[in-house]
Amino acid sequence: MAGADTFYVTTPIYYVNDSPHVGHAYTTVACDALARFWRLDGRETYFLTGTDEHGQKVEKAAQLAGTDPQSFTDNVSGRFRDLAALLHVANDDFIRTTEERHKAGVQALWQRLVDKGEIYLGSYAGWYAVRDEAFYAESELIDGKAPSGAPVEWVAEPSYFFRLSAWGDRLLAFYADNPGFILPPSRRNEVVRFVEGGLQDLSVSRTSFSWGVPVPGDPDHVVYVWLDALANYITALGYPDEAGDRYRTFWPADLHVVGKDILRFHAVFWPAFLMAASLPTPKRVFAHGWWTIEGQKMSKSLGNVIDPRSLIEEYGIDAVRYFLLREVPFGNDGDFSKRAMVGRLNSDLANDYGNLCQRVLSMIGRNCGGEVPMPGAFTDEDRALLDRAHGLLGIVRAEIENQALNRALEAIFEVVGLANRYVDAQAPWTLRKTDSARMATVLYVLAETIRHLAVLTQPVMPDASAKILDLLAQPDDARGFASLGASGQALGPGTALPPPAPIFPRYVETDGAA
Ligand code: ME8
Ligand code: MG
Repeated sequence: MAGADTFYVTTPIYYVNDSPHVGHAYTTVACDALARFWRLDGRETYFLTGTDEHGQKVEKAAQLAGTDPQSFTDNVSGRFRDLAALLHVANDDFIRTTEERHKAGVQALWQRLVDKGEIYLGSYAGWYAVRDEAFYAESELIDGKAPSGAPVEWVAEPSYFFRLSAWGDRLLAFYADNPGFILPPSRRNEVVRFVEGGLQDLSVSRTSFSWGVPVPGDPDHVVYVWLDALANYITALGYPDEAGDRYRTFWPADLHVVGKDILRFHAVFWPAFLMAASLPTPKRVFAHGWWTIEGQKMSKSLGNVIDPRSLIEEYGIDAVRYFLLREVPFGNDGDFSKRAMVGRLNSDLANDYGNLCQRVLSMIGRNCGGEVPMPGAFTDEDRALLDRAHGLLGIVRAEIENQALNRALEAIFEVVGLANRYVDAQAPWTLRKTDSARMATVLYVLAETIRHLAVLTQPVMPDASAKILDLLAQPDDARGFASLGASGQALGPGTALPPPAPIFPRYVETDGAA
């Protein structure tokens, strides 16, 4: 069973009814940063993303586009795959629910639930929201709509049911035994209250359309799209082959990252399905918040949906990744505004981090013969800064264990600030004329601090960090977290460095706004 030396993280699989936007980019980038962090920290990591391609919503979108569902989903799924590459996301796998490996796994899971007496045939009569792909009780409706605002329609058809009602107490016991299963804690409380309110059996098949995985032995039915979709987290690992390497190494998942809109499916239905099938439950579901754009809900009708491609063209991929993960505490809602984006880019990245690297590396280039300088004895000030750099991994790791990406970045940028103050206080440009040996020590301390910063910013800003590590002549095998700290692989004096180059150009307004 998956242990502490492995890390399996997943994004939701995105519906292909819609093109990818900044909301999807957010979840995917967050998971990528977490996966990269643990990979650099020495854990064997598996990072899964993909697309959710069955169900009425996708079938309707294909009809609207005037194509058959398979060519429609091939096309849109390709765009999500391209998005991952565009975001410089290093996922290990990309699953599509229309793949054979997935369909076979869903049918196996279904059969297992049938064999355990957890699924029975009945008929459903009630409300359904295609936009949410969810059933709602009459009592949940608000002004005739789903709580999400989605329109509902009346559905009456034969249906298989999952005995969800029997799992309420066991779910509550599971949440109590695993207080870290749902994060953040406020979301956990919502889920607990929902389950305490009582669960009804869940309709898990549909007969009024056919775009889905056929129910084994009863092909008039297709499997409910959420049972189909949630199974991706195990089918991607090779389920039903529970003896297979990937499944044995990585299940149960360490972390499912989802938006708060789909927490209930992940924190109630998913563990219930798994417990009913006698399969291990994931260790954590983290529900992050919702992004608005310039204070408004993102929507097609408002025409304010942001294509991540245009953001990357405008600001650069590292700045976009940094902004998304730094601006908002992970779990809270956030607003994307041009003003905030440019502010972060110009102040944190260009002025603070970029300028630190630029000043130090160009002084080394000009005054130390383009080699890592040879330090003399360290002063208290030198040691104070180096201690902070050496201690950073421990602080950052503790934040990342709780998915607190913004706090991890705050801790790193605190040291950026300290290093900038140290440069100002030590004034190596003055030492150049008065005490070149001391200048060498100061520049060494700074270069070693920058090395720590760049190794630690790799998960969030892989490209810019790699450039900084290139400028420090760090070989590929010296970029993991094992290279950090007092007992790490400090810079070797005398190492030749390439000519310095700027890392984060300032964003210059072209339209006079902001
Ligand atoms: O729900 N702010 O897919 P989906 C933040 N197929 N995150 C956002 C966002 C926003 N404005 N908009 C979208 C589905 N997201 C199912 C999932 S999983 C087994 C099946 C992100 O295409 C966020 O992660 O509607 C949200 O949960 C997800 O996209 C919903 O993607
Ligand atoms: Mg959605």
